[in-house]
Amino acid sequence: MKWQSIIECLVLLGLFLLIPPAFSIEDTAFTESVIIFNTICAKCHEAQCSGRLSFDNSFKKSTNHILRYYVQASGKHWLQKELFDILNYMKRKCAYYPMQTTVPLKRIWEGEILEKFTTLMAKNYFIPIGKFTPGTYRIKLELERDVKVTVHLISEKFEMAVEECYQSTDRRINIPVLIEESGDYYFRMYPREAVKLIRLEITHQ
Ligand code: HEC
Repeated sequence: MKWQSIIECLVLLGLFLLIPPAFSIEDTAFTESVIIFNTICAKCHEAQCSGRLSFDNSFKKSTNHILRYYVQASGKHWLQKELFDILNYMKRKCAYYPMQTTVPLKRIWEGEILEKFTTLMAKNYFIPIGKFTPGTYRIKLELERDVKVTVHLISEKFEMAVEECYQSTDRRINIPVLIEESGDYYFRMYPREAVKLIRLEITHQ
């Protein structure tokens, strides 16, 4: 009897130990899918607010299409499905898929936090930067090395407050921004060659 309850306890303990990592893996994967969608798939699917949803049979048909634009998803059925679901969310709600993130109080992102918002290979970035009210702001970027980047600052209604290409000097880029409408905003960066973003700061003027 005693042995049996000890074994039961061990099995339970084992289950508890197993569960948390499984959850956290899912969490990071989901943020990753949203970043992939909002950088790679967004080139064609951004602001597709048709309300017309794609059904499960179109998921099977669209697998090849998804892999053409994101070959790293091959063999990862869950990732393909998440990308498909994110597109459906955008179509239904006419909005970016929500991400579990908090905006730093001083609007400074650096170090490891930034790693969460990038695609592995191309180092495209997509960062929810929180609520903004109308006014003039400045985006300050620090990069790993000098490179040309395309920067977008997009409102929750998919309007571009910034849509421009910049060449960094001394690894830095300084962008004046005029925000005309209140709401949630998103920062997106496409570098010409993969480059790490070391620091992002947004100041109010
Ligand atoms: C170069 C443009 C382009 C890119 C990049 C792109 N797509 Fe598409 N996608 C299309 C076009 C065009 C269609 C067909 C018309 C439509 O349904 O919007 C389509 C259709 C789809 C469909 C089927 C929709 C339906 O109703 O049957 C899915 C799902 C899809 N894309 C997902 C993705 C995902 C996920 C990515 C990123 C990995 C991606 N696409 C990247 C252009 C693109």
